[in-house]
Amino acid sequence: MSDTSEQAAEALRRGDLILLPTETVYGLGADAANPEAVAAIFEAKGRPRFNPLIAHVADAATAETEGVFNAQAKALAEAFWPGPLTLVAPIRDTTRVCDLARAGLDSVALRVPAHAGARAVLAAFGGPVVAPSANRSGRPSPTTFADAVEETGFAVAAAVDGGACAVGLESTVVSVLGGRVSLLRPGAVTRADLERVVGPLDDSGEGHRSPGRLTLHYAPEAPVRIEAEAARDGEVLLGFGPGVGEPRWSLSVSGDLREAAANLFRLLREADRTRPVGIAVSPIPAEGLGEAINDRLRRAAGHVG
Ligand code: TXA
Ligand code: MG
Repeated sequence: MSDTSEQAAEALRRGDLILLPTETVYGLGADAANPEAVAAIFEAKGRPRFNPLIAHVADAATAETEGVFNAQAKALAEAFWPGPLTLVAPIRDTTRVCDLARAGLDSVALRVPAHAGARAVLAAFGGPVVAPSANRSGRPSPTTFADAVEETGFAVAAAVDGGACAVGLESTVVSVLGGRVSLLRPGAVTRADLERVVGPLDDSGEGHRSPGRLTLHYAPEAPVRIEAEAARDGEVLLGFGPGVGEPRWSLSVSGDLREAAANLFRLLREADRTRPVGIAVSPIPAEGLGEAINDRLRRAAGHVG
């Protein structure tokens, strides 16, 4: 049974998840501005990592309210939108796409899908919708409504049947950060298609080495100490659970992993801004979303590359 685009938009407004048909693959969608809804995506997918997600918008004008488009970005948007192309651009300071959806990065991945069902949902909702492929982690991306329902239907409040996906492969992801155009993920829009519009792509990988460009992992300036029982002198303690540290610095006072995931990147950033000697983080349980939270914290603490 398919829900209407209006019902899907209503579900997004309530903070619930939806199944979103697109021309590439079915997406598991949430309001990009709602970190708890975004945390629910990672929970449903059983994804042990917080990857930055693609924010889907109704048109290029809306995309430009979320990201800053240089001449190359505008040319690519003009040539391939709506369609299976995702552009990674610097965020506008007014962006609605929350920290967790961007994995704390100051860039944002934007796409205007061509599929009529996706466009109807985005138009009815108005804001950006993050949607990774609707499969559970480690399984193939669903390209039919039945497969999408089988994969993550249990987690959604509305599911829009848009038939079989015409492309059947995830969108091409292109970065336009730092004045370079580089291919981050190949897809239906080919290198040759892109080069016809913007000339030769940059394959130097240079961006990956320069912080704030393509580096996929946000890390605070302050050293991060994990599994901490208490703050040491000059440290901010990000607590977890009742009575641990100051409530304003708590990932979740009640010990709720979804809330902790929703707060993680914001609190790391805010703690870092106080220029502490270090950021200490309470132990986080390993189960469920805790696995992704701990993965991110181990990276921030320099325990993983
Ligand atoms: O076809 C698609 O793109 C599907 C449908 C549902 O639209 N969606 C999809 O989303 O594949 P997702 O979230 O699974 O793909 C995100 C991709 C990843 O390769 C991720 O690394 C990259 O986009 N990405 C997102 N934000 C990024 C950023 N700020 N910098 C670099 N890469 C980014
Ligand atoms: Mg996927």
